[in-house]
Amino acid sequence: MKKKLVILTGAGMSAESGISTFRDSDGLWEKYRVEEVATPEGFAANPELVLNFYNQRRRELLATKPNAGHTGLAELEKEFDVRIITQNIDNLHEQAGSSHVIHLHGELMKACSVRDLHTTYALSPDSPDIHIGDTDPHGVQLRPFIVWFGEAVPMIEPAIREVEDCDIFVVIGTSLNVYPAAGLLNYVRRGQPIYLIDPKEVKAYRNDIHFIRKGASEGVKELTKILTDS
Ligand SMILES: NC(=O)c1ccc[n+]([C@@H]2O[C@H](COP(=O)([O-])OP(=O)(O)OC[C@H]3O[C@@H](n4cnc5c(N)ncnc54)[C@H](O)[C@@H]3O)[C@@H](O)[C@H]2O)c1
Repeated sequence: MKKKLVILTGAGMSAESGISTFRDSDGLWEKYRVEEVATPEGFAANPELVLNFYNQRRRELLATKPNAGHTGLAELEKEFDVRIITQNIDNLHEQAGSSHVIHLHGELMKACSVRDLHTTYALSPDSPDIHIGDTDPHGVQLRPFIVWFGEAVPMIEPAIREVEDCDIFVVIGTSLNVYPAAGLLNYVRRGQPIYLIDPKEVKAYRNDIHFIRKGASEGVKELTKILTDS
């Protein structure tokens, strides 16, 4: 039976595809306040600004492609039962060919209505924008299918179940600042190997982590070597 490899990814996973991370200072997130574009209150105050912000993010995503880190993780399915838990709203893991992806914070290429955050509608790459006045079949305004700060994270429960019985746990490109995602590390049983790939130092509250201080593409290459040599 294949070993179960669970991988938690964050914004750094997609950085080499050209998608801005959250906290590294490179412009995008410096131009917007999180409260403005990533909270239900921000949406209520200025829905047009928020819809436009995510319309731009969607167009940015449509112009990018998975990097060698994403494809390297998809390749690992040959030898491992790979489960990806991502904080990212892009679909680059799926584009790279990963079969099991849990999105903790929603998905950019989907919409939901402002009254029902669970029923989703796929957005077409040919007409990816959401506008004021676009509605679900019940006539309720659509919004991006994104878990904003202050909203429940329903996918955390299935994610915890994946982590609890993993054989190997890997963290890639997340500053481990956003909860409950960051807390998943606590569910890895003692004795199971944990690897963390990030070019910068990340504070993780466990003393049993093997750090790989590299970007996602190089880091996944090194991880693959370590896992397949052992
Ligand atoms: N692609 C996306 O979908 C996307 C992009 C930006 C923000 N977000 C959201 O922002 C929130 C922020 O949390 P976060 O921890 O994911 O992001 P973060 O910006 O807080 O942390 C990013 C981490 O990635 C590391 N990093 C930078 N370049 C890297 C590279 N080339 N390879 C590997 N790691 C690299 C940084 O050192 C940092 O530790 C999340 O909720 C996430 O949903 C998502």
